[in-house]
Amino acid sequence: MKPEPQINRRREEFPTLASGIHLLSHSLGPVPRAARESMLAYYEAWEHHTSEDAWAASWWEMSARVGDRIAGVLGGAPGSVQIQPNASIALSSVASCFEFETAGRNKIVTSALDFPSMVYVWDAQRTLGAIVEVVHSDDGIVVPLKHILHAIDDQTCLVALSHVSFRSSYRVDVEAIVERAHQHGALVLLDVYQSAGAVELKAAEWDVDFMIGGTIKWLCGGPACGYLYVRPDLQKDLQPRLTGWVAHAAPFDFSPAPMRYDESVRRFAQGTPSIPALYSVLPGLQIIEEVGVPTIQAESQRRTEWMIDFALERGWKVNSPRDVNQRGGSVMIHVDDGPAMVNRLAERKVFVDCRPGVGLRLSPHFFNTDEEVREAMGVLRELI
Ligand SMILES: Cc1ncc(COP(=O)(O)O)c(C=O)c1O
Repeated sequence: MKPEPQINRRREEFPTLASGIHLLSHSLGPVPRAARESMLAYYEAWEHHTSEDAWAASWWEMSARVGDRIAGVLGGAPGSVQIQPNASIALSSVASCFEFETAGRNKIVTSALDFPSMVYVWDAQRTLGAIVEVVHSDDGIVVPLKHILHAIDDQTCLVALSHVSFRSSYRVDVEAIVERAHQHGALVLLDVYQSAGAVELKAAEWDVDFMIGGTIKWLCGGPACGYLYVRPDLQKDLQPRLTGWVAHAAPFDFSPAPMRYDESVRRFAQGTPSIPALYSVLPGLQIIEEVGVPTIQAESQRRTEWMIDFALERGWKVNSPRDVNQRGGSVMIHVDDGPAMVNRLAERKVFVDCRPGVGLRLSPHFFNTDEEVREAMGVLRELI
């Protein structure tokens, strides 16, 4: 492995790390110790509120504040992110902005390596006139760029892809896809759940139209805090049918229909925000901001390169791209019986998971030491 740089891994801030080698950041990040205080602060505000003062004092604005922090991680401007209940709802919110039958464009381009919600949500739009093209992957690891570009045409309204695949850690070439899509008048949505907090994101610079994701994995936050980024100059053109009173320009007027969407990114909200979820994500976000995603990405690449070399030298089948520029923060390794191997590794205090067709998923984050990464691969060698 290339020499370890001097970075503060802040291990004492993650109590879970004492129980073993945590390589599960693609699934469930470890809770920061400070989340306990943050959740207590939530309880305090709740306990002491009388009538609506907790809302007036902090809760109403909190969603926008957390949204702006997440926008920073995505490389977007303040005011570009609306918190959502989860990434699947964020995606449905975007889907509900399109008029497939009347707009003259009704094709959605997606890929075989995307998270299942992607195809479920787009499939459900077929009854509204959408046509869904799922770009195939021959090896289950990559979707060749030329096949994605080929699928984008003048009928395409949206190209919706995982930035990094949950299945193989394959990372798409964003700039080439955005360029082609925009040339054809199509928009681009990236599911960045597997890249935000692990890979540097440049929403504004890339000119991406939408990003969706959530906080529980690489961002070390709690569950049920999804997010939706919408390119600022696109926001006012869209009127999501998946909506509610919080998206109204004057929600406390409780006006009758028709809906009058807020001018801000809040037009993509629905109902009452999940306040506990917002409290649960602040400590993790703070740590990720302070460590810095460029540092996290460099560490991830240094260790995943070594892990892949280690696996290939032993003749194991690696189900992630070899090229670091086509990869996110995880390494997928084929084993004969994934669930059994996950259990045997857990008995040795190495925590990973597996997915059908790709085998084990292993994800070193900045808080893992090099010794942990070496030890985890050593234990795997013994068990294989
Ligand atoms: C790439 C990706 N997208 C979406 C999801 C699902 O997100 P949610 O449960 O917030 O809808 C996951 C993982 O759970 C994922 O890995």
